[in-house]
Amino acid sequence: MTKTIRILGIESSCDETSVAILEDGKILANLIANQEVHSKYGGVVPELASRAHQQNIIPTCVEALKQANLELHEMDAIAYTQGPGLLGSLLVGSSFAKGLSLGTGLPLLEVNHMQAHILAHFIKDNESTPELPFLCLTVSGGHTQIVLVEAPLKMKIIGQTIDDAAGEAYDKVAKMLGLPYPGGPLVDQLAQKGNPKAFQFTAGKVKGFDFSFSGLKTNVLYFLKKKQAEDQGFIEMNKEDLCASIQNTICSNLINTLEKAAKKYGVKQLAIAGGVSANSELRKRLKDLESKGYKTHIPKFSYCTDNAAMIAMVGYFKYLEKDFGSLSRIPSPRSTF
Ligand code: KG4
Ligand code: ZN
Repeated sequence: MTKTIRILGIESSCDETSVAILEDGKILANLIANQEVHSKYGGVVPELASRAHQQNIIPTCVEALKQANLELHEMDAIAYTQGPGLLGSLLVGSSFAKGLSLGTGLPLLEVNHMQAHILAHFIKDNESTPELPFLCLTVSGGHTQIVLVEAPLKMKIIGQTIDDAAGEAYDKVAKMLGLPYPGGPLVDQLAQKGNPKAFQFTAGKVKGFDFSFSGLKTNVLYFLKKKQAEDQGFIEMNKEDLCASIQNTICSNLINTLEKAAKKYGVKQLAIAGGVSANSELRKRLKDLESKGYKTHIPKFSYCTDNAAMIAMVGYFKYLEKDFGSLSRIPSPRSTF
């Protein structure tokens, strides 16, 4: 009988402190401490995020072990987010992971956060698992990428945003509409009650399979300024239609580009990942591609936004390859794969 492999995962790249325990890809614990402190500032304040990580990381880890009914020495390795992300936040998670590794002798596994969003699809209790090769549209607060996945650890970015990420676009227009941070989920909720054809907005046109969302932000800003000058109550009166129209623009752009890439690469398996893959319209649009002969994969809702289970999942694949990390490796805010 083969030995089970238990990975302790640590995620601290942005404003969620998360610790998970995975046994052969099955979750035994996946705890997330959210940081409320940022909402009143309209965005993540890096220094406050690192301080909150410092406060949260030990209790979250202790609780995860308790929930899994396991002790540290029963783990096989410690996986942590090496990047990309906020440097101060990454330092808390990486230092904690290295401390645990030094204290226990357990090997370290360095994980790329964007790769982790994609491999969240391989956590055991998802509805479906993509077959290789597949294309993944990874859409988060800091990144928007189309990735060709040939093997769990063999990925190639074939398209990405040249400016703002899709999640960033959601959050910035939400702020213009007077919604608190993070605005993405709120725009999604309001959009469901609005008319997506009410207003015409445009996402940037770029070559190949790249994206551009900074023009959309300016487009919405000037439109709102003009309309508010005519009628002070314009935003309040039209919030749902505005959200639906903006959401329509973002999702159409994302899905059309993914479909274009799928045709070019001849790939029939399509997936979405990252925080914005929690979006109801994006999930629906991806599913609609099934009528065109694609097999689509949507991660379980709780694996879309940042969590340590996905970090442990990459750790598991790296453990199988004996691709261990080192105590001297420093976290990298812009690391890529
Ligand atoms: O992957 P994630 O949790 O963190 C990063 O790695 O950035 O993504 C966070 C982003 C935020 O921009 C948030 O507004 C967006 O995901 N988001 C959504 C939804 N849920 C989260 N955007 C649109 N619709 C949603 N339902
Ligand atoms: Zn993320």
